[in-house]
Amino acid sequence: MTDDVPLVIAIDGPSGSGKSSASRGVAERLGLGFLDTGSMYRAVTWAALDRRIPLDDVEVVAELARTAVIEVSTDPRQFWITIDGTEVTAPIREPGISAVVSKVATNLAVREALIARQRQIITETGGIVAEGRDLTTVVVPDAPVRVLLVADPDARVRRRFSELEGKADEAAVTDQVVRRDAEDSTVAAFTEAADGVTVIDSTELDLSQVIDTIVELATAAHR
Ligand code: DC
Repeated sequence: MTDDVPLVIAIDGPSGSGKSSASRGVAERLGLGFLDTGSMYRAVTWAALDRRIPLDDVEVVAELARTAVIEVSTDPRQFWITIDGTEVTAPIREPGISAVVSKVATNLAVREALIARQRQIITETGGIVAEGRDLTTVVVPDAPVRVLLVADPDARVRRRFSELEGKADEAAVTDQVVRRDAEDSTVAAFTEAADGVTVIDSTELDLSQVIDTIVELATAAHR
């Protein structure tokens, strides 16, 4: 791998496609940083609820996203995130956040603020694997490696369910995966690959096979 230009790998996909685990694995394998952009939308949602800001108050939530100081780990082995100095690593994964985060993620002014912060983190980190819904199309469309990770809805629901270690009702998880993706896809085009984006279908692949495929793409692109 060449060291002169930092390698940026952009990975998008719907919930349960396995993009988070795959991105972390690729980052570890290649010695790159890792950015979970969804965690930033979750942190703003957590802060809005904490401050009793109604999520449909588009302007006030946007102001929060513009002014809050979000620090997020780029170490693929240890994830943490803070907003205005409060660590929210665990609370942002609570079902109460997952159920409403789309309201914040579909606020275009919030997106503008968080995308600016994401680009800053990506630039500062050097080499990085960044994952979310709009990395390949909006955040870093010039990244040399861009992947859309997809999987059948059944496989995605099964994965999300096992990530939650059975601490959720399967019907609720199905609703969350299907409904949230439908809502999110109104503002980020992650259901179809943009030009030049490699589609990997993980339905029949295990995690190490997905990681191997992305590492091969990265090695070819960054010779
Ligand atoms: O990947 P996740 O479930 O942690 O994402 C949380 C929410 O943020 C989800 O509603 C999708 C949205 N999101 C987005 O719109 N754009 C991104 N780049 C990342 C996440």
